[in-house]
Amino acid sequence: MDMQKKIVMSGIRPTGFLHLGNYFGAVKNYVRMQEEFECYFMVADLHSLTTHPDTKELKTNVHRVLSENIACGLDPDKASLYCQSHVYETSELYLYLNMLAYIGELEKTVTFKDKVRQHPENINAGLLTYPVLQTADIILHRASYVPVGKDQEQHLEMARNFVNRFNHRYGDVFPEPHAFNYGDELVKVPGLDGTGKMSKSENQLATLYLSDDDELIRKKVMKAKTDNGPTEPNSPKPDYIDNIFGLMKLVSSAEVVNKFERDYSNCTIRYGNMKKQLAEDMVTFISPIREKAEAIRNDEQYLKEVMEMGAEKARKSAKATMELVRQAMGLNYFAPNP
Ligand code: TRP
Repeated sequence: MDMQKKIVMSGIRPTGFLHLGNYFGAVKNYVRMQEEFECYFMVADLHSLTTHPDTKELKTNVHRVLSENIACGLDPDKASLYCQSHVYETSELYLYLNMLAYIGELEKTVTFKDKVRQHPENINAGLLTYPVLQTADIILHRASYVPVGKDQEQHLEMARNFVNRFNHRYGDVFPEPHAFNYGDELVKVPGLDGTGKMSKSENQLATLYLSDDDELIRKKVMKAKTDNGPTEPNSPKPDYIDNIFGLMKLVSSAEVVNKFERDYSNCTIRYGNMKKQLAEDMVTFISPIREKAEAIRNDEQYLKEVMEMGAEKARKSAKATMELVRQAMGLNYFAPNP
């Protein structure tokens, strides 16, 4: 029954292009969750103001991130897909939560300390209270599950603290939000340069974006580091080779992967061929998403409808929560005495 469905909420920053790491690490989970839960997926345009005060590109970025997510399978009819700035209740709840957040705990946040280091010229209060705004996003829908990566764990822990403080002070309104991942789907998406995750890579050539054209995909894959191949049967794989296999497992068929595994084991592998195969399978995977995203991005009317529909659903849920919040906080001066 609909009433019983757990509520899911996540935010997507409108900075940067979606890459393969985002797809397998996050978006694929959203697409699966929208079938099972009541989902709210939000473009965090207000959060972006903490680090990107110049809003010239904001509209383009919001449109792009929405288009890319829809192209990956997010369905505006199933989930609520909306913009943070369209739901004013977010700002109201953020204000109340700020009174429950201690400066000391905010200053200890890892992401805050990182940003202070990166932008010493713009250490604004919004940056400090970033986790408070994020908490408002989540609990505005009384969400229990938040599909996010490890880098957001601390923010979620803070969200639980704020929730518990609120509930303790004013009465039980909010469930505790927890990070959510499908256990069997914790895939690692390695970069093409053999170092670390695709998302963390500083090297643009090591990351495959869902907006990359076919030639660029081929070029990036062919540049991936390899060597002369194993000389002893069944040798362990060096990291950079293991990574190529890892990427292949994401987009190629099991037969293809098995063939190259066998070739590796018996030392007949030709990495040039393997990369050509991987490049073609990547192109087959990425190009339909890229083309779909482009088509959506060019259809401003459709994007407007998506955002309006998403905001409407989000506001409905937000309004109901805020009634409970104001009531619990005693900000309902016209209600009859209890
Ligand atoms: N802070 C998140 C990030 O950097 C984005 C975000 C904003 C978010 N609001 C959220 C994530 C609410 C989950 C829930 O990616």
